[in-house]
Amino acid sequence: MKRKRILLILLALIIIIQFVPADLPEVILDNPNDLFSNNEVPENIENLIRTTCYDCHSNETVYPWYSYVAPVSFLISKDTREGRHHLNFSEWEKMDAIEKAEALDDIAEEVEDREMPMKIYPIMHSDAKLSDADRRTIEEWAEKTGEELFD
Ligand code: HEC
Repeated sequence: MKRKRILLILLALIIIIQFVPADLPEVILDNPNDLFSNNEVPENIENLIRTTCYDCHSNETVYPWYSYVAPVSFLISKDTREGRHHLNFSEWEKMDAIEKAEALDDIAEEVEDREMPMKIYPIMHSDAKLSDADRRTIEEWAEKTGEELFD
């Protein structure tokens, strides 16, 4: 009897938290300051970054169905908000050359150190796994692009 009551309470809680707004960051598809619409970036780099970074680091987040189910929605909302705050490819051209160089430096470092994409991400998105070669490709591009900023 006791176990049944606990289960019922849990179920009630899960239903109740569905009414707490997750406040998922807004999706914006028209981004005049986007990295890729303003710069010539090799297609393979664009594909890698779009599939492994864009959900958290752009305004073009694609929210899967479970983004709308609490408590997962709270976590996705937080990661997307924080991700965009730290680095937003949709707002790339709003940075000056020094800020871009710093961002490229951070990108190379996070990708090399396997800090990004966040560990949970490729588990939920099977096409977002980066091989060692992919990581090196992104890193080399970021380093080269950073150097070219001051040519
Ligand atoms: C699931 C969401 C998610 C994905 C996918 C993701 N990131 Fe992040 N990223 C975050 C969050 C959240 C932060 C801020 C907190 C932190 O640093 O862990 C962040 C921080 C960063 C930072 C800033 C670190 C700093 O010191 O300011 C860089 C650079 C970065 N990510 C690059 C990337 C790159 C490149 C990719 C794709 C290869 C990527 N991220 C994929 C969520 C994500």
